[in-house]
Amino acid sequence: MKRVRTAVLISGRGSNMKALLDAAKDPAYPAEIVLVVANVPGAGGLDIARAAGIDTATIDHRGKGGREAFERELHARLLEAGTELVCLAGFMRLLTPFFVDAWAGKMLNIHPSLLPAFPGLDTHQRALDAGVKFGGCTVHFVTSEMDVGPIVAQAAVPILPGDDAPTLAARVLIAEHKLYPAALAAVASGKAPQPGAGALPTVYNPPL
Ligand code: GAR
Repeated sequence: MKRVRTAVLISGRGSNMKALLDAAKDPAYPAEIVLVVANVPGAGGLDIARAAGIDTATIDHRGKGGREAFERELHARLLEAGTELVCLAGFMRLLTPFFVDAWAGKMLNIHPSLLPAFPGLDTHQRALDAGVKFGGCTVHFVTSEMDVGPIVAQAAVPILPGDDAPTLAARVLIAEHKLYPAALAAVASGKAPQPGAGALPTVYNPPL
C-alpha cells in the first residue's frame, strides 16, 4: 500500500502531532509522517518528533521579511520532503493566499470547537460564556478564511457544571487526539470527500 506522505506543522507542545505519529506507526495506516516543522524554535513537539525518529525542521517566522517569505521557505522544505498532505496541529500562524492555494485540498487543520461556532482564539471561554452544552473539535480543509474550510470530521464533548476553560480544553483535547488520526486516515485513503465535491463529512464521535 502506498502511504500518503504527510507533514505536520506545529507551534507548541505537539500533542496532536504525537497522536498522528502514534497512529502512523501502524504500517496499515494510510498516511506516513515524513516531516514535522515548527515555526517556533524549541517548540516542545520537536523533541517528541525527534525521539520518534521523524525528520524535523525549525523555520522561524521572525526576521524573514514578511509572511510570504516565511511561507516560501516552508513550502520549499515541504516539497523537498516529498510532502503530499499537510496537517496543521496547533500551528498558530495565519496563512497567506500563496500558501493556502499551493496546498488547496491537501491541507487539514484541527480547531478545538464545533465549527462554525467559536472560530479563532479563546474558543473554550467563549463557549462557556455562550452557555452552550457541548464543546468539541473539528478537522477541516484549510481555506483562505480562518477556521472556515470544508469539514472532514467533528467530535462533540459535553460541557459539565463547574467547567472552566482549562477543564473544558482538557476534555476536548482527549477527543482531538482521537479525531485527528481518524480524519487524516479518511482523507489519506480517499474516503473523505474532497472540498467542492458536494457531499459532506465523515462524522466521527469518539465514545465519551
Ligand atoms: C489544540 O487544542 C488545537 O486544537 C489548537 O491548539 C492546541 C494545540 O495543542 N489549535 C488551535 O486553536 C488552532 N486555531 P497541541 O500542540 O498539543 O496539539
